[in-house]
Amino acid sequence: MTENGPVIEIRGLTKMYGDVVGIKDLDLDVHQGEIMGFLGPNGAGKTTTIRTCLDLLAKTRGEVRIFGLDSHNDSIEIRKRTGYLPGDFGMYNELPVRTILRYLLSLSGCVDEGPMEELASRFDLDLDKRYGSLSKGNRQKVGIVQAFMAGQELIIMDEPTSGLDPLMQQKFYEFLREERAKGKTIFMSSHILAEVEEVCDRVAIIRDAELQVVERIAALKEKMGKTLEIELGSEIDPKLFDMPGVEGLEVDGRRARMIVTCDLDQVIKRVSEHNIVNMSLETFSLDQFFMTYYSHPGGG
Ligand SMILES: Nc1ncnc2c1ncn2[C@@H]1O[C@H](COP(=O)(O)OP(=O)(O)OP(=O)(O)O)[C@@H](O)[C@H]1O
Ligand SMILES: [Mg+2]
Repeated sequence: MTENGPVIEIRGLTKMYGDVVGIKDLDLDVHQGEIMGFLGPNGAGKTTTIRTCLDLLAKTRGEVRIFGLDSHNDSIEIRKRTGYLPGDFGMYNELPVRTILRYLLSLSGCVDEGPMEELASRFDLDLDKRYGSLSKGNRQKVGIVQAFMAGQELIIMDEPTSGLDPLMQQKFYEFLREERAKGKTIFMSSHILAEVEEVCDRVAIIRDAELQVVERIAALKEKMGKTLEIELGSEIDPKLFDMPGVEGLEVDGRRARMIVTCDLDQVIKRVSEHNIVNMSLETFSLDQFFMTYYSHPGGG
């Protein structure tokens, strides 16, 4: 967990696709033995981050160190020690799954097929079927098996549960927890908030190419904001709520709605000089919290 040293160190990582910003000035550490979730809306920069970290995509600026090694100069050594599940995992359709996995295993210099067989049986994957004959979810299982079968110490996955049914997702989370208990480090992107909440130690949220927040899930739950709705006797000047700890402000005439993460007392003091007609307060769910980072610029 966080007391352990960083396995992945990302500093000022920037990737431009011509004029399009893929990711901008990203700083992030993933520590040994933790599961780090990487969350963000479509086009936020998750895949770009993962691919530049593994040197599958050339970075524009910045530095990435994995196991203390340089992501570009030492990319071969890093890949040897890292299991990777790309977001667009695909394989040769004509070949049986076992043949494909054997081949991939040999590429990582590993000869023990035991874990491959065990993983396949654990996730109900038929190794004798042709890859092309598999359903979407079963193809994803092939991707998962290949990411873990060589027993590497770091696993990087781009939306690993996409296509898996809820039962398989749960099996996968259980498996991830076991891997963490063995000291593995896991960095995975996701669109599923509940998944991140359930399985990850920390979450990094990215939006519009920039990192918004990196936080322990447990800490997020503790300092969760509240939704405050307030109605005053006169038209509300949005400046009234211009203070740190007030986010996502929506003002409509005499009514205002906001997310309060600071001490509520500070907000009440501000409005107490006005005539309060109505007020309601709602504790935030983690879902709502994430949504603020998805949709409100400057959230956090
Ligand atoms: N090959 C490319 N050429 C040009 N722009 C690209 C390319 N790949 C990604 N981008 C742009 O970079 C930004 C980040 O894209 P990226 O694929 O990293 O997002 P993502 O967070 O993985 O999204 P999703 O959740 O949809 O997978 C987007 O604006 C995207 O349009
Ligand atoms: Mg992506």
